Amino acid sequence: MSTVYNFCAGPAMLPKPVMEKAQQEFINWQSHGCSVMEMSHRSPSYIAVADKAEQDLRDLMNIPDNYKVLFCHGGGRGQFAAIPLNLLPKGGKADYIIDGSWSEAAAKEAQNIGDVNIINISEVVDGKTTVKPFSEWPLSSDASYVHYCPNETVNGIEIFDIPDTGDVPLIADMSSTILSHEIDVSKFGVIYAGAQKNIGPSGLAIVIIRDDLLGNARKTTPNIMNYQVLADNDSMHNTPPTYAWYLAGLVFQWLKDSGGVSEIEKINTEKAQLLYDFIDSSSFYKNTIDKHYRSRMNVPFWLENEELNAKFLAESQALGLLALKGHRIVGGMRASIYNAMPIEGVKALIQFMTSFELENK
Ligand SMILES: Cc1ncc(COP(=O)(O)O)c(C=O)c1O
Repeated sequence: MSTVYNFCAGPAMLPKPVMEKAQQEFINWQSHGCSVMEMSHRSPSYIAVADKAEQDLRDLMNIPDNYKVLFCHGGGRGQFAAIPLNLLPKGGKADYIIDGSWSEAAAKEAQNIGDVNIINISEVVDGKTTVKPFSEWPLSSDASYVHYCPNETVNGIEIFDIPDTGDVPLIADMSSTILSHEIDVSKFGVIYAGAQKNIGPSGLAIVIIRDDLLGNARKTTPNIMNYQVLADNDSMHNTPPTYAWYLAGLVFQWLKDSGGVSEIEKINTEKAQLLYDFIDSSSFYKNTIDKHYRSRMNVPFWLENEELNAKFLAESQALGLLALKGHRIVGGMRASIYNAMPIEGVKALIQFMTSFELENK
């Protein structure tokens, strides 16, 4: 098979060394005679795997000791419900910042549970989609928390500066940006992320929560979503997604071996810059997001006209450049270039885009 680069937004490509190690260990994990998938989550061997994954994540993100790390079921959307169930008391209110389709979906789920104050922050100025500065966000003074999505996977919008919400806990859906650049965890009340972009297989979600926010769940919260119950049981109240957790551990080890988050941040910045510079230099492709808010992980771009989309997709796929179709909400193309995408993949995409432009302009 010639080299294939998978630009899928999620489940996304995983680092090749991780896949190779998982393959090697698949049937007989560390001479145990069985797969790690077939082992009890309560066995000392599995607990060692689980603990190491957590410690490696703590090291990678510099997670302070007063934060718990939870490995949860239910992916990103599971957390859309878990957040208000755990943090929005009856009679309380939460601010939801909307800058794209995932923050909107999170707000809709929260509205099923409690009172939500919607704050739209994206706007189009001079034909560019941009984000209102933080000072213009009309936050409520009495919110239980402020929820936002720093990287909107579908829209290709990323907010790099961390909003200052004072004493009101800041909750971030980092599904498509976690581990892509350095952040100060202590600025957040909760960070959560579905795993299937920069962490591992889908279904798993990771929650990083400040201790003082535990213990506030509504009575009706199912135990498997109750952060206090999960924390008390080291995320093993029921059988956790053991294989996904193991695989996440391999990804964390790979990232450590690759120099950690600061190193991957440099590569991610370079990859995104290369692609955006190319798009900006062409009149055939366009990206209409304000440069300050362009996502480093998800790069949407549109061709000169819609008719060319199918041709672009068929030809790119035939060359081993997979899953470039944009989300149906926004159309066009989207290149997701998470941590596992090597810079060679971005260069191969640009090479293809160059020749496609020449042939179809
Ligand atoms: C930013 C963001 N939040 C939430 C989700 C939903 O994740 P899941 O499909 O695991 O529920 C996604 C999915 O791609 C996402 O990109």
